[in-house]
Amino acid sequence: MANEATLVVGASSAIAQALIRAQHQRGHRVIAISRRPASGQTDWLQCDYSDAQIAHTIHALRELNCHWRRVFICNGVLHDEQAMPEKRLEELSSTTLQARFLSNSILPAMWLQALLPLLRGKTPCTVAVLSARIGSIADNRLGGWYSYRASKAALNMLLKTAAIEFSRRAKNIKLIAFHPGTTDSPLSAPFQHSIADDALFTPEFVAERLLSLCDAHSPDGQLSYLDWAGKPIAW
Ligand SMILES: NC(=O)c1ccc[n+]([C@@H]2O[C@H](COP(=O)([O-])OP(=O)(O)OC[C@H]3O[C@@H](n4cnc5c(N)ncnc54)[C@H](OP(=O)(O)O)[C@@H]3O)[C@@H](O)[C@H]2O)c1
Repeated sequence: MANEATLVVGASSAIAQALIRAQHQRGHRVIAISRRPASGQTDWLQCDYSDAQIAHTIHALRELNCHWRRVFICNGVLHDEQAMPEKRLEELSSTTLQARFLSNSILPAMWLQALLPLLRGKTPCTVAVLSARIGSIADNRLGGWYSYRASKAALNMLLKTAAIEFSRRAKNIKLIAFHPGTTDSPLSAPFQHSIADDALFTPEFVAERLLSLCDAHSPDGQLSYLDWAGKPIAW
């Protein structure tokens, strides 16, 4: 189909960058959206994720007149200058909880809302949102990391609810909540010392796995919560 394209939100992420390179290698056009400036990359839209700038970005995307086949929403924050993941209840702060829910649950949902009119239609489109196994309530055996864990669980619920709605209103859209496995990126950097070398994935490996999963799944009205190996994760 002419003018097919891939959209990557949160494009500065290490995994997002690998996805962009992999899609370019396959000859696909990729439009990237990020809080950060372009640093030499083309088809890059800077956006501060405010409602006004999301609306402005959607307008710019509409002007491109693309058929969107793949959308990757990569945003996710585990730690920042203000806070590391909590080990104990006493470490919870409402500021950190709100910040994690904003970046990890609310923003991906707002992008899904904003993109729906662009994606809905006849072109089959897979939207993969970077979630995490840690958002699985069934899999929570170790505890800790309250705000990240809870924000990914909330993300999964938002996506599950959207999938039910899309099964009626946007049957061409396939939703995937993807767990990349522990991947070498700024997000995992402070915790990599406890990971065996062969258990730490490169962003390139993870991008290939995600692209293969997208190829293997067609729109079916469901949210698939999958790990890098394509195995379903318990909710
Ligand atoms: N690395 C891992 O081991 C691992 C494991 C499980 C799940 N994940 C998930 O995989 C995804 C990509 O992570 P990564 O490892 O590639 O991390 P990364 O390189 O640290 O990327 C961080 C991502 O979060 C966005 N971001 C940072 N601060 C933000 C804020 N204040 N508001 C909104 N967005 C913000 C960035 O978007 P901009 O481009 O706009 O800056 C970027 O997309 C995340 O959702 C993460 O939770 C990663």
